[in-house]
Amino acid sequence: MMALQFLLHLAFLGLSITCPLVRGRSFQGPAVVWPSLFNLNMPQEVQEIIQIPNNGSAPLLMGAQVFVSNVFNVDILRYTVSSMLLLRLSWLDTRLAWNASAHPWQAVTLPWDSLWTPRITILEALWVDWRDQSPQVRVNQDGRVELNMALTTETNCNFELLHFPRDQSNCSLSFYALSNTVMELEFQAHAVNEIVSVKREYVVHDLKTEVPPGQLVPCFQVTLSLKNTALKSIIALLVPAEALLLADVCGGLLPLRAIERIAYKVTLLLGYLVFHSSLVQGLPSSSSCNPLLIYYFTVLLLLLFLSTMESVLLAGLLARGNLEAKCSPSPDPRREQRDHSNPGPNSEEAPRGVKGSRRSWAETADHIFFLVYVAGVLCSQFIFAGVWTWATCKSDPAPGEAAPHGRQPKL
Ligand SMILES: *[C@@H]1O[C@H](CO)[C@@H](O)[C@H](O)[C@H]1NC(C)=O
Ligand SMILES: *[C@@H]1O[C@H](CO)[C@@H](O)[C@H](O)[C@H]1NC(C)=O
Ligand SMILES: *[C@@H]1O[C@H](CO)[C@@H](O)[C@H](O)[C@H]1NC(C)=O
Repeated sequence: MMALQFLLHLAFLGLSITCPLVRGRSFQGPAVVWPSLFNLNMPQEVQEIIQIPNNGSAPLLMGAQVFVSNVFNVDILRYTVSSMLLLRLSWLDTRLAWNASAHPWQAVTLPWDSLWTPRITILEALWVDWRDQSPQVRVNQDGRVELNMALTTETNCNFELLHFPRDQSNCSLSFYALSNTVMELEFQAHAVNEIVSVKREYVVHDLKTEVPPGQLVPCFQVTLSLKNTALKSIIALLVPAEALLLADVCGGLLPLRAIERIAYKVTLLLGYLVFHSSLVQGLPSSSSCNPLLIYYFTVLLLLLFLSTMESVLLAGLLARGNLEAKCSPSPDPRREQRDHSNPGPNSEEAPRGVKGSRRSWAETADHIFFLVYVAGVLCSQFIFAGVWTWATCKSDPAPGEAAPHGRQPKL
């Protein structure tokens, strides 16, 4: 008996260390639980009721209700969801029933470790904070046991990023009773959305529970359907980008000869570059299904770059044309001088012949480019709207699913 106790003690410690997800209170477990459990002076009945109730060949049916009272933080950059839950477990343990005429009370409360209670682990949890480290168990006269546990947890979630910031994701919380097998225990789960505050970026618009098939350990899964309703990101991201694009299109209306045009376009491009880098850092990213906005902003950058380049090139050609016209041997230097000091009606003659043709050529090219550019900008907006509406993205399969030999053992 002592050897068994020692081995079990070791196994229990090992589980606590390698499995940090196990309920907080089981850390204090070994010191408190085992001595009382294997106390040889303990009466036989007491040793029995700390074992799982036996339901013959069928598993014990356990009702599990999950009340989601708050989802207080969704961090899409860290792929985490923080939520507050109330877990209500109930099952029938006929060994605990009593005769109502002999003992007239309806129900009694007992410390959780004085009888068998399941140990629940949340698979996706980064941490779990069980509010009450030693909750009370309520036992009814007919042997129905009820255990309520309030917890706060931060869990990992595989967000859908493609439509950020209008994303919708399904985040699951898998509750496992790791110390039992499916032969002993079976969950009947039910989830209730009790979130009253709607002042959140993400709202839980649906809640589902299911019992995943083919598991060796009893478990149930609660799926939160989260929807991003934040207007902030849209206003903060899309409006400045659209305004910049509009400002750039309007910049095309400035005459090509005006020096302000290049200054204006370069200022816009520089301003956008600063905006772009901070913005791309603020967007979530992953190995697959990156937000469409990243592509959108990159296309925007290319458009601004293209229009600035066009202005610089044509203005450069124009200036070169002017220079050549100026340097070419003029038949009448005095006339050339007059042309500068007094652009009168008679200056529009021979030298302007060359200059004028080049100028009109450059300005025509600029005009055509402007029209093409406006059409391109409009097209890109429509294409983006279409892609946004119809695009879906299927993430690459997880490594465990892709490689049959790299598969994780199924719980
Ligand atoms: C035992 O199993 C049967 C058949 O599945 C079920 O109807 C019954 O509720 C179970 N009893 C308990 C105490 O879980
Ligand atoms: C409950 O107790 C009463 C009186 O103490 C007794 O008459 C009755 O038979 C008991 N019932 C059961 C089911 O044991
Ligand atoms: C989330 O779950 C719902 C219902 O099961 C489904 O219709 C929807 O497509 C899922 N969404 C994602 C992004 O997987």
